[in-house]
Amino acid sequence: MKIELDSSDPLKKKTKVLCTFSFDGSGKAFGIDKIEKTLGVAVKQSIKEVKGDSGKVAVIHTLGKQSADHILMAGLGKKADFTNDTIRFVSGKIAKKVRDMDLHEMAIVVPPESVSNVTSSVVQIIEGVKLSLYTFDKFKKKKEEHKIQKLSLLAQKSKDTTNAINASSIITDGVLFTRDVANLPANECSPSTLEKFAKSLVSSKSKIKCTVFSKKELKTKGFGGITAVGQGSKNESKLIILEYKNGKTSDKPTVIVGKAVTFDTGGISLKPGDKMDEMKFDKCGGCTVLGIMKAVSELKLPINVIGIIPSVENMPGGESYRPGDIIRLYNGKTAEILNTDAEGRLILADAIAFGEKKYSPREIIDFATLTGACIVALGNNVAGMITNNEELAWRVETSSKTTKEEVWRLPLNEDYMDMIKSEVADMKNIGIGRAAGTITAAAFLKNAIANTPWIHFDIAGVAWTQQATKNKPYNPKGATGFGVRLVLDYLKGK
Ligand code: BES
Ligand code: MN
Ligand code: ZN
Repeated sequence: MKIELDSSDPLKKKTKVLCTFSFDGSGKAFGIDKIEKTLGVAVKQSIKEVKGDSGKVAVIHTLGKQSADHILMAGLGKKADFTNDTIRFVSGKIAKKVRDMDLHEMAIVVPPESVSNVTSSVVQIIEGVKLSLYTFDKFKKKKEEHKIQKLSLLAQKSKDTTNAINASSIITDGVLFTRDVANLPANECSPSTLEKFAKSLVSSKSKIKCTVFSKKELKTKGFGGITAVGQGSKNESKLIILEYKNGKTSDKPTVIVGKAVTFDTGGISLKPGDKMDEMKFDKCGGCTVLGIMKAVSELKLPINVIGIIPSVENMPGGESYRPGDIIRLYNGKTAEILNTDAEGRLILADAIAFGEKKYSPREIIDFATLTGACIVALGNNVAGMITNNEELAWRVETSSKTTKEEVWRLPLNEDYMDMIKSEVADMKNIGIGRAAGTITAAAFLKNAIANTPWIHFDIAGVAWTQQATKNKPYNPKGATGFGVRLVLDYLKGK
């Protein structure tokens, strides 16, 4: 989608549909005060129709009396309820309406600075529009035909705004890339497929290097977790490493790790059948890393970032690892396997320990669809967050507020570390019963780290739309791409 910034008078803009916003109770819509008389009456009427909750839309045809063919009014709700997600949410509703009208082009009046910071509004509009129009139709004969090709943003021109448009287009493309890969079913996406997607990001100008450890290398190099979890599958396990180096050589990198279980049957501790199909989404953490790396390199951020994706398929079979097995992880610690369905922490522990040892990073950030317990605790709209570093937590929370990818912190003290102590190994891969399942999983990960600032996101509830997911236009059915915008906001601020 082509996005342009246009400072012309909205009423003079030649477009199929001129979209604007209206606060409940204001009786007005931005930028169209001086509209022709009869249309003015129609606009007043439509503004009444979009009162109440935000996201309602009304359209009038201008019958050739204006430069625009249609005027679309979208309700922002009450001014008192306005948040930094309102414009994103309502823009998504607008985009869907325009798509339903079969139009290929639209213009949106950016709300004035008095309502909200213009660059922030522009970012929210782009996110709302692009993320809401996403559909996963790769496997359908009938594709979404009516693509919206052009979006004009009507606002005063400034360098900041132009830059924000460019950055936001790149970042939303990163989210869409994450969704495209994450939505693939397991028969179309093995660890080797993820390797191909990772390698597709490599080019001379992207400054990305990709290294992949094969099944054999993983075994000889001591990645006991990845090796054990993947050994029951015909699809070979991989450790995918993406290096983006555009900072000073002396700048310590940020390491971002993502769980990529291309399908999680539970293994020998087989999962029940209900909703098992959704375990194709157990690779979402790894896909988030792919989207982040793509955008980081397109933005040409002057930093060093390493993406690490441990990828396996967790299957039952004659060669599977079993409950009772004791394995040795990359950092030398041993783990007693008491449930083969608690596989994510095993592959992540290997990847995190490797990332810390190889890169001495300034921080490690990981994303994983790690525990069903996280859904019980926080539901489908907030991710779990666990960290060993207060400052990192504070900074990430600030970004999370900006991007509206919500997170909530859970504690991790020594008592939780005790809950994964094993009688026969250094630790066990499950806690005590169902108690604090999200935290005991994180406790396992913490054992992989010596002393680096670390933040873990359990995205089990938010990585794809589920039962209790709040209906938002910019999160259509399927993978959401949670975390891509959050981490980019964080990295851009450095
Ligand atoms: N991938 C699952 C977690 C999951 C379940 C995410 C449902 C999203 C929806 C993970 O590998 C898993 O199976 N975790 C177990 C851990 C348990 C055996 C300690 C779980 O949550 O039940
Ligand atoms: Mn599992
Ligand atoms: Zn899993």
